[in-house]
Amino acid sequence: MAASAIPPIRLGLIGTGLAVEKLHWPALRGLTDRYEVTAFTDPSAEQRRRFTGYSGIDPALATADRAALLAREDVDAVLISVPIPHLYEVARDALAAGKDVLCEKPAGVDAEQAAGFLALAAGHPDRTFVVGENIFFRDDLRYARALLDGGAIGRLHLMAWRHAGRMVPREGRFSGTPWRQRPQYRGGVHLDAGVHHIAQIRLLCGEIARVHGLVQAANSTIDAPSDLVLNLVFSGGAIGNYTASYPEIPVPPEPNEMRLYGTEGVLVLVETESERRVTRCSPDATTHTTVFRGIDNGYRAQLVDFADAVRFGARPVGSVAQSVANAMVVQRAFDSAERAAALALDPVPGAGPVPLWRPRGSAGLFDGLPGQRSSSTASFAA
Ligand SMILES: NC(=O)c1ccc[n+]([C@@H]2O[C@H](COP(=O)([O-])OP(=O)(O)OC[C@H]3O[C@@H](n4cnc5c(N)ncnc54)[C@H](O)[C@@H]3O)[C@@H](O)[C@H]2O)c1
Repeated sequence: MAASAIPPIRLGLIGTGLAVEKLHWPALRGLTDRYEVTAFTDPSAEQRRRFTGYSGIDPALATADRAALLAREDVDAVLISVPIPHLYEVARDALAAGKDVLCEKPAGVDAEQAAGFLALAAGHPDRTFVVGENIFFRDDLRYARALLDGGAIGRLHLMAWRHAGRMVPREGRFSGTPWRQRPQYRGGVHLDAGVHHIAQIRLLCGEIARVHGLVQAANSTIDAPSDLVLNLVFSGGAIGNYTASYPEIPVPPEPNEMRLYGTEGVLVLVETESERRVTRCSPDATTHTTVFRGIDNGYRAQLVDFADAVRFGARPVGSVAQSVANAMVVQRAFDSAERAAALALDPVPGAGPVPLWRPRGSAGLFDGLPGQRSSSTASFAA
């Protein structure tokens, strides 16, 4: 059947906080051919009012609680965007109610619950169940992955990435949510934000075989370690270091760029508010830079991937297993820090290397997607 002949997925939103406002709604409103919001629920009257205010969604679509929403026959699938400690129980109930589920990350508050997410997925093979990881869908990162797959820098041997930036509670920002300041999940910010970084590392560098982690608490505004230093050994033979720091004092602007060193070149990935850059540097000092503008963080394509899975039975690139694999790197890093030992990572059943997402039915990376790209060449020779 032609895609246009298939009715949109009737979507229920469980939780309408910041992630919906800033990430999901901007994507959903451009995907009316695939999704129609038919119900939403949030225990906070203020959040419900705010959501209907900016989205134009009929306030009458509000339901009293998630049980009422899950009982509705006009809800095929749910998008779960509740605080991390509640993701599992809501996903469990939604699957039990027979809904397809796109649940926010991370997959589990700890290793035990990560295993619980895998068991939930195994127990519902007839449903599309994804724990989201938008990073897998970001255009600049997919482009970098395609370059690496094509041998653009030869054999990757070293990954280096330092991500440092001030973090203090700010009203209306993710850091302002009280549940993030007193995290009831192991790893704190390194699980919340860190799983995205690990996803980027896994997408580009492949599977992680061993970790050595060190952590430190140096931010009085968050009740969890603010610093993580992580040494990595990849299955493909490369090694790497990822350092993440969220201090409470202002720090000078940092490049926060990821560098991938290969036997035949270097790839540099830079991210700013307005654009993302991928620069390939050759041994003769020439550089080839592609700049991406007008793209989101992968939220739109993630929703497209989920819709393709629900409507056409396609295997989604985002999966519970992939999100568990991301989360388990963080959990193992904290195990390593506690035990003062380098630790092996067990493969996550059903995960394996992150597949490279392409628009359905397309051989190209960007066919039909929004955003602009421009390329230039230069030299770093003195
Ligand atoms: N993919 C990303 O880039 C990204 C970014 C930010 C947040 N997130 C994820 O989104 C989720 C929500 O984060 P947020 O920043 O929007 O938090 P938030 O606190 O702004 O919003 C959460 C909302 O859920 C509501 N809620 C709480 N318990 C609920 C329940 N049982 N049923 C229904 N609603 C409930 C709250 O009232 C609140 O409105 C988290 O899991 C977080 O990890 C993902």
